[in-house]
Amino acid sequence: MGSSLLPYQAILASLLFIGISISFDLTTAQQTGTTRHYNFDIRLHNVTRLCHSKRILTVNGKFPGPLIIAREGDRVLVKVVNHVSNNVSIHWHGIRQLFSGWADGPAYITQCPVQSGQSYVYNFTIIGQRGTLFWHAHITWLRATLYGPLIILPKKNMSYPFAKPFKEVPIIFGEWWNTDTEAVINQALQTGAGPNVSDAYTINGFPGPLYNCSANRTFKLKVEPGKTYMLRIINAALNDDLFFSIANHTFTVVEADAVYVKPFETDILLITPGQTTNVLLKTKLNPSNTTFLMAARPYFTGQGTFDNSTVAGILEYEKISAKNYSKISIRGLQIPTLPPINGTSFVANFSSKFRSLATAQFPANVPQSIDKHFFFTVGLGSSSCPKNQTCQGPNGTKFEASVNNISFTLPTISLLQAHFFGKSNGVYTTDFPSFPITPFNYTGTPPNNTKVANGTKVVVLPFNTTVELVLQDTSILGAESHPLHLHGFNFFIVGQGFGNFNPQKDPLNYNLVDPVERNTLGVPSGGWVAIRFRTDNPGVWFMHCHFEVHLSWGLKMAWVVLDGKLPNQKLPPPPSDLPKC
Ligand code: C2O
Repeated sequence: MGSSLLPYQAILASLLFIGISISFDLTTAQQTGTTRHYNFDIRLHNVTRLCHSKRILTVNGKFPGPLIIAREGDRVLVKVVNHVSNNVSIHWHGIRQLFSGWADGPAYITQCPVQSGQSYVYNFTIIGQRGTLFWHAHITWLRATLYGPLIILPKKNMSYPFAKPFKEVPIIFGEWWNTDTEAVINQALQTGAGPNVSDAYTINGFPGPLYNCSANRTFKLKVEPGKTYMLRIINAALNDDLFFSIANHTFTVVEADAVYVKPFETDILLITPGQTTNVLLKTKLNPSNTTFLMAARPYFTGQGTFDNSTVAGILEYEKISAKNYSKISIRGLQIPTLPPINGTSFVANFSSKFRSLATAQFPANVPQSIDKHFFFTVGLGSSSCPKNQTCQGPNGTKFEASVNNISFTLPTISLLQAHFFGKSNGVYTTDFPSFPITPFNYTGTPPNNTKVANGTKVVVLPFNTTVELVLQDTSILGAESHPLHLHGFNFFIVGQGFGNFNPQKDPLNYNLVDPVERNTLGVPSGGWVAIRFRTDNPGVWFMHCHFEVHLSWGLKMAWVVLDGKLPNQKLPPPPSDLPKC
């Protein structure tokens, strides 16, 4: 952002004056709000859960980390100071980072990590987004404890497209390990086996009464009768999709991934890691009880082990004086009904309910014509066991995960630096395949050879390209739902289904009118999903499974989006404090 903006503001003002609607590339550089400063001191802090104490990485000694709150149009400056021995980087998950790719955060993709004793100021402006997002560490498994909510309020004189709620409450799900998560993943990568699973799920850091030693560590939502609460729900768990419900209550879903949706009612939510969902909760006028349980537990379609436990919290009515409620112990409360662990039909039905508002004020700008088509398989695979070692992955190999059978290797300097300074030689290659090199029956009997290829391969696209990407799950080492997350863009989900994508028939059923716009989706287990987006943001943009274990195994790739021709379509140079490797 610099002096090149000024002519743009003039153009924008005159366009507004003569009433021409502003195209996407003109809105990008506009900071219309204030500047908000945050300090993130990365420190070790002692935390006890499930009667296990451990030193964890925190921001400012808080677990979960502090809330970042801003308005649409505000500039946000976060100074991250690393006081620990680990390398750290922080990602502002879902923030589009229009022309501010240096602030995106994934280590070795857009920056080198912040080393011990060093600092970096993340500097970005929130443009065209409002709602709930979150921030988290984006290196190894540090996001296990380094995460927190990020809330974008509408511009000052703007309201929600629904009645203003009485109160707003962030609900952030996490995952707790009694042991050190860095050791968990390092050991797994060493042996080739699946990593140990977590010991608990948490709501706002609290495991709740269904776990050992945790009755006094329970999240409590205190409410008044007959009011509307907005729950800003975030799944920051590492490796698990979660079902969530509150006994005897109904939610109205109004927003997903910081984009408003057509409101719909549901008793149960499904939320994948990386997704956020705003719901309205109308409390009862005359509740049958003073307290109700809320609970979340996993949706799991894979083959390995998983943390099959349940986190619970309490919804507690206050100010109900008219009746005398007898105190019911937590044991007497009913756990809300949740779908079966492998409830794929619930999930398919639930995800089909999300639709864009598609109004004049909040249009669904889904690309109608497509410049570039891509078809990516996503799934598991294996690599050979090194000589002189025994491996504990499938048939004595090591687990891997891949996109189009390529398990992505992180480089040792950031891709964005390599790209920006024209030094990609030896860092990455531009031959990421647009389609599988060896097509097979993706959801049928898996091929005998499950070996993946390794590499740091990217797709390069010109500025302003319209992209259609079909993500196809594979049955290699088991079909599984994958929460795919794209940095730098929102995408529209235009279609999804089970089995293999059919390029002749399936596009006929696309929704090009009001498809939901998000940054993270669940690729259906044993199925496919089609998304569309426009490359209106130059930079290097990571795309990966938001299951941390699959990310570690290589289910990731990157898009390099070139600068456009106009001065306001270029990525500015990096800030002077960009960390060095
Ligand atoms: Cu929340 Cu690259 O991820």
